[in-house]
Amino acid sequence: KACREPVCISDFENHAKEFLPKNTWDYICSGANEGITLRENRCAFDRLRLRPRVLRDVSSIDMSTTILGEKIDFPICVAPTAMQKMAHPDGEIATAKAVDQAGTCMTLSLGSTSTIEDVASSSSGLKWFQLNVCKDRDVTIDLIRKAERAGFKAIAVTVDTPYVGRKYAEIRNKFALPPHLTLANYTNETGVKSHYASLIDSSLTWDLIPWLRSVTKLQIVLKGILTAEDARLAVQYGVDGILVSNHGGRQLDTVPATIEALPEIVSAVDGKCEVYLDSGVRFGTDAFKALALGARAVFVGRPVLWGLAYQGEEGVAKVLQIFKDEFKLAMGLTGCCSVQDISRDMVAHEMQYSQ
Ligand code: FNR
Repeated sequence: KACREPVCISDFENHAKEFLPKNTWDYICSGANEGITLRENRCAFDRLRLRPRVLRDVSSIDMSTTILGEKIDFPICVAPTAMQKMAHPDGEIATAKAVDQAGTCMTLSLGSTSTIEDVASSSSGLKWFQLNVCKDRDVTIDLIRKAERAGFKAIAVTVDTPYVGRKYAEIRNKFALPPHLTLANYTNETGVKSHYASLIDSSLTWDLIPWLRSVTKLQIVLKGILTAEDARLAVQYGVDGILVSNHGGRQLDTVPATIEALPEIVSAVDGKCEVYLDSGVRFGTDAFKALALGARAVFVGRPVLWGLAYQGEEGVAKVLQIFKDEFKLAMGLTGCCSVQDISRDMVAHEMQYSQ
């Protein structure tokens, strides 16, 4: 497939739109309902202005940081997205290899089309496992044990999905996993080969956290927090991290953009656990803005799938390299030599400049 070499994330997006089957493209790009949150995830980043500092010797820039005590080379990680083999036959294995090479963290989706074991053995890089807690707790315990044995460092529990959001295109397309693929983490014993939504436990409460603590020593991140109220509860229940996420605008439409929800959460958490952000990150400057507002790292979902669609492992490597280059440039041009130099006053709302 001949095309110009991508130079920015939207080049990968445009390529994916052109070359992926419509069913797959629609599945990846959709937001819930009218896509208001999907759009806001981008617009809200664009409404923020950077306030760069100059003459600060940026000849050497260190982008590295840690998440839950593990070092990453730059603070842009990979969010869990289901069924990656729909984007490329190598799916999650290609992603894991590219993420390992880039020196960051991969979150493997419960809904992956490769097994936990196969992904773990394909690369030694840092990995988290994303979990939707199932009605049958034995299934969940079994998955946690697999993630523990495979060396995953944390469980990212998705808490914004007691039900699956309404995506019009998916409904119109009668979306289903193509028959040659399977949800690899569901064994025959669970009897499920295709859609896992029916397995999700919609009766979960905060009691989930002590229960998880009682079954695993892995660190726990809650994925899908959007309010200070829930952030405070998460801290009370002793989670290790909060991923501020609106699921890429795929769950409840008209919730705020994550970059707008982030400040109240950072302030409520008050340093008591790590805070991350995903949804709408497409530029190095987006990651920079999130760090300035108190996130420890950001995660990207769709860009990885567009990278996979472009060239499998190599495509994901290129996507991550662009994020890395752009983030480094954002640091250099704002006068930051290390991520500790990225400060709150380096970001302002555009309104501040409108009078
Ligand atoms: C997702 N996301 C997701 N989240 C999760 O917890 N488990 C999952 O299996 C999936 N699957 C999934 C599939 C696809 C196609 C997309 C686009 C997203 C949500 C994902 O982890 C993340 O929150 C968003 O993708 C972040 O937004 P961006 O970067 O895609 O804008």
